[in-house]
Amino acid sequence: MTTAKEIEELNTRLSNSKPTDIIQEASKLWPNLAISFSGAEDVALIDMASKLIDTPAIFTLDTGRLHGQTYEFIESVRKHYELPIETLHPDPQQLSRLIQDKGLFSFYEDGHEECCGIRKVAPLRSKLATVDAWITGQRRDQSPTRGEVPTIQIDSTFSNPDHPVVKINPLANWSSADVWNYIRMFDVPYNQLHDAGFTSIGCGPCTRPVGPNQHEREGRWWWEDATIKECGLHRGNIED
Ligand code: ADX
Ligand code: SF4
Repeated sequence: MTTAKEIEELNTRLSNSKPTDIIQEASKLWPNLAISFSGAEDVALIDMASKLIDTPAIFTLDTGRLHGQTYEFIESVRKHYELPIETLHPDPQQLSRLIQDKGLFSFYEDGHEECCGIRKVAPLRSKLATVDAWITGQRRDQSPTRGEVPTIQIDSTFSNPDHPVVKINPLANWSSADVWNYIRMFDVPYNQLHDAGFTSIGCGPCTRPVGPNQHEREGRWWWEDATIKECGLHRGNIED
C-alpha cells in the first residue's frame, strides 16, 4: 500500500487513533519499518513498540555532536528494553572536508543546513533506502513548522519513483503533556537533560534550554527564524 490515494485514506482512517493502534497497524502493513529515535521524549514510541512488536527496528542518527547525557540515555534505553539500537554515522570524508574548510561551528555563521546535511540527512537517506516505512516522534504542537503534520504520509523528501517511503507520525495528535503523562504513567526512562530545562533535544551546540512560556523548540538553532526550523529530516513540513 503506497499510492498517494491509499495513504491519504489510511491517514484519514487513523488520524484519530491511539498511537499504539497506529504503530500496530503500520507494522502489519510495512513489516520492514524502523523507528527513528532522537534520544529525547520520543522514547515513548520505543516503549509502545516494545510491547507490540517482536524486536522493533530502531535507529538513531549519531551526529557526533550529541550531549553526553544523550549518549548515556541512548545506552540506558538499549539496556532497559534489551533492544538493539542502530547508530548511523556521517560520512567521514564529507565531515572532515566541512571541518577543514569551515571549522567546527560553521552553523553559527552560515546556518545549520550544511552541517545537518552531512551529519543527519545523508545518513538518514542511506538508511531509508533500506526500509519501506519509518516512524517518527513528530507532533503538531511542537513548532510552527509542524502544525499540519499528518499521521501517515508519503515521505516526499526521501522517496523516489522506484522506492516510495512511508512516514508514520503516531504522536502527531498528542501534546507534550500527553507524552509526559505516558512517560510517567509507564515509568519510561528519560533523558536527564529534560530535568535541566531542555524541552526539545538535538545536538549540543545547537540546543539550549527554554525559559518560561517559550515554545518547545525555541531552544533549537535559536539564532535562526522559527518558521524555517527544520534540519532536513522533516524538510517536507516546510516544502509540501
Ligand atoms: S529535528 O529535525 O528538529 O532534529 P526533532 O528533534 O524535533 O527533529 O525530532 C522529531 C523526530 O525526528 C524524532 O522524534 C525522531 O523521530 C526524529 N529525529 C530527530 N533527531 C533524530 C536523531 N538524531 N536520530 C534519529 N531520529 C531523529
Ligand atoms: Fe550540525 Fe547543529 Fe545540525 Fe547537529 S544540529 S548536525 S551540530 S548543525
